[in-house]
Amino acid sequence: MVSSHLTQIKKKIRKLREDITYHEKKYYVDNDPQISDYEFDQLIKKLQSLEKKYPQLITPESPTQRVGEEPLEGFPSVTHRVPMLSLDNCYNSGELREFESRVKKVLSDEDVKYVVELKIDGLGVSVLYRNGNFYQAVTRGDGIRGDDITSNVKTIKSLPLTIPEKKEVEVRGEIFLPFQSFEAINRLKKQNKETLFANPRNAAAGSIRLLDPREVAKRNLDIFLYTIFIEQKELDSQWQNLKVLKKLGFKTNPFSRLCSSIEEVISVYERFRSERENLDYDVDGIVIKVNATYQQKHLGKTSKFPRWAISFKFPARQGTTQVKNIRVQVGRTGALTPVAELKPVKISGITISRATLHNEEEIKRKDIRIGDTVLVERSGDVIPKIVSVMKEKRTGKEKKFEFPSTCPVCHAAAFRPEGEAVSRCTNPSCPAKLKQSLLHFASRRAMNIEGLGESLVEQLLSSGLVKEIPDIYFLKPDELSSLERMGDKSSKNLLQEIIKSRQCGLGRLIFAMGIRHVGERTAHILASHFKSIDRLEKASKEELTSIPDIGPKVAESIVFTFKQPEHIKLLRGLKQAGLRFDYKKEKTGAHNILKEKTFVLTGALENFSREEAIRVIESLGGKVTSSLSSKTDYLLVGESPGSKLSKAKELGTSILSEEEFLSLINK
Ligand code: IVH
Repeated sequence: MVSSHLTQIKKKIRKLREDITYHEKKYYVDNDPQISDYEFDQLIKKLQSLEKKYPQLITPESPTQRVGEEPLEGFPSVTHRVPMLSLDNCYNSGELREFESRVKKVLSDEDVKYVVELKIDGLGVSVLYRNGNFYQAVTRGDGIRGDDITSNVKTIKSLPLTIPEKKEVEVRGEIFLPFQSFEAINRLKKQNKETLFANPRNAAAGSIRLLDPREVAKRNLDIFLYTIFIEQKELDSQWQNLKVLKKLGFKTNPFSRLCSSIEEVISVYERFRSERENLDYDVDGIVIKVNATYQQKHLGKTSKFPRWAISFKFPARQGTTQVKNIRVQVGRTGALTPVAELKPVKISGITISRATLHNEEEIKRKDIRIGDTVLVERSGDVIPKIVSVMKEKRTGKEKKFEFPSTCPVCHAAAFRPEGEAVSRCTNPSCPAKLKQSLLHFASRRAMNIEGLGESLVEQLLSSGLVKEIPDIYFLKPDELSSLERMGDKSSKNLLQEIIKSRQCGLGRLIFAMGIRHVGERTAHILASHFKSIDRLEKASKEELTSIPDIGPKVAESIVFTFKQPEHIKLLRGLKQAGLRFDYKKEKTGAHNILKEKTFVLTGALENFSREEAIRVIESLGGKVTSSLSSKTDYLLVGESPGSKLSKAKELGTSILSEEEFLSLINK
């Protein structure tokens, strides 16, 4: 009895750890969060409380036992001299008072002052100055190691390049993108028919990872600093930290306050909460820091957080607006999803014009009608949702929404199985399904075919150039460049991307096929278990469920899918197109001739634009970084090289002319 209870707990803990690890990677490594910060914090809290109750189940690998995540790829990694810790969160004044009790307990009721700062929703960074000069900038990464983004951070105009202090100085702060710049970037993306950034934080993260510093400079990134370490000098408080930063010429946030009690902190929180709407950058709460350095030291830290600081998050952002219409979208599995089109409303700096309604039941449950005034919520990075209808604002002119019984695109019958919430289009060759399947197939986490976005997919389908997914592998340059907005250069780039995708590996391919219930993680588990598509195709439900993490629902869906004539046809087509379905071969082979080789580029190349060269190197398994280090394998030198050439000579890095590079890749 007791042991079966413990087995249940172990299972729960294992599931939570897996979910957290998955979402941490999405958030910290991929900058592609799948759930809101609040939902994520709830997962962590659940795990922490289970581990507290059953300490015998804590393992060193648990996400609660480490500081963060792996650094990004593409920039040399650097170890932080002092780890960059994260912050514990609280969501109400009760939890904040609990923080105060913990502080007071350790400090035996000493007098405590707190510094309150805004919590800027951006990217943590550490910047090093040597001999008064800007020397290096590193991302937070996993808190222990981060990426060297020196050349990119140097483009931030508010960050001084020299400071009046000769001792070694490290400053830490938050890089962010003001709303205005964020909107300008998205406007440009929209014009170019590229996928828009979901919010300023993602846009800042995307910008700081661009490989070309000149592009970064155009993005108008900004930075607020909040911590300073000066060699052989200890400052005696956080308040003094802020003052010294300001004195040395750093940008600090003007809203910081020194408070004498937790009650004062709470009233500052309320003031900042309303102030937040007037700011031209995104903040997600306040940070409360015990002011005195000796008290901070006495309080110490856990493996992840300082015990002397906490963040107090602002509530999810809400606003009211009107439902103009309800439209039904068709997904790649044929699922019909209703979406509310809203009168555009600005919620903390972001214009919201659509909200998901999930399914027919949700519309009924909330009694949402066209014309209704509704309360909309933006929480973190997820699609906005309608919280409730303000029924007192009804005029009688609102219209109930009739959920369609046929597909709005191909007009085939829609079918909703008993007990399920979602109705689906029953036509296997519905053009909307094909469009969504192709978009999913090409998406970043699947085959990663950059440039194959919505408008191009629409053109490919309507022109008849693509009738099924494998057709993209037979596209010809002149066919592509005949399409609207597709010059020779963009069709060449796209073809390179398509060619590259042939080598992307079994896990991505399984995910790209869009089998119901097979997400990215499951696809990679299947790839590493079966090692080939033929073995997966033949797998029985029993064999599938014997794999840890594969449940009966997933297994059933896989077996079912591989029996469907359309799926069999898709597989055959992809094989004919020369895609590799073998797991082992992913790691070797001629296409990987630059595997693990790191390149830095300098000067103008004759045969390639910078982007083309990067794409070629990456498609052959290599990496391109922006700055030289001892880890760089090759410096590729074009016409009028910069200072990198002399640095490479100093470091002894192999130097390649364009001609040598061409002969290397054509080997
Ligand atoms: S202090 C040991 N102050 O929030 C103290 N962090 O969720 C660590 N952040 O990693 C950080 N504004 O990137 C601090 N005023 C502020 C902040 C701030 C934003 C970020 C920072 C940190 C994250 C933790």
